Amino acid sequence: MSVLERALRWWGRHGGVAQFHRPSGTGGHVAGWIMGRRASNVARNRWAVGLLDVQPADRVIELGCGPGVALAALADRANRGTVVGVDHSAVMIRQARRRNRAAVRAGRVRLITTPVEDLCGVEGPFDAALAVNTVGMWPEPVERLREIARLLRTGGRIALVSQPRCPGATAATSAAAAGELAGLLTEAGFERLHTETLDLDPPAVCVLARRMDHATA
Ligand SMILES: C[S@@+](CC[C@H](N)C(=O)[O-])C[C@H]1O[C@@H](n2cnc3c(N)ncnc32)[C@H](O)[C@@H]1O
Repeated sequence: MSVLERALRWWGRHGGVAQFHRPSGTGGHVAGWIMGRRASNVARNRWAVGLLDVQPADRVIELGCGPGVALAALADRANRGTVVGVDHSAVMIRQARRRNRAAVRAGRVRLITTPVEDLCGVEGPFDAALAVNTVGMWPEPVERLREIARLLRTGGRIALVSQPRCPGATAATSAAAAGELAGLLTEAGFERLHTETLDLDPPAVCVLARRMDHATA
């Protein structure tokens, strides 16, 4: 186990987990630093972006963007489009801005400090939406997903990712998480669901779906 992994386990046992839900202050900076560098975190974010099939002119939104690892990969692919990152943590938005400073300056990445419960300042439509290890933290997630559906164009894609971080998590924990995400997406009206798995420890799962015409009814 690497020094970073050992430090993380210690930190988790001493109350650090809350900092991944709403990073703030010095602890929040540390949480963002870890999320931006932990190998499994970077790998699952890049993997999820690859699955989302982002095209050069796409408009993409990431909910709960944290320190902006996926935003960087999204901006690389949507190099003639726009990427919007949303997070309720001002500390995370600052880190995401630093990580993506050239694309922010060029107007290709836009960052918004807001909870997913209040997306009224976000203008659609988007071609694709992404949320990595964050849906489990949202209040009334089905309602949140319905609002995201309204921001997507017809046929727009969504990818929800989970890599369970609870102690003792196994492949069965990840499979259960995928089932939960699929249930939420179905209840919110998304269609054409399928699940992909990345072989990490524990595995990361990504449930992909589309907003079809009647998804927001
Ligand atoms: C575990 S971190 C994951 C960050 C990033 N997606 C990644 O994988 O590196 C969860 C993120 O979701 C954000 N978050 C949690 N609940 C939120 C909410 N209701 N509205 C907006 N952001 C939220 C947190 O601030 C945090 O940055």
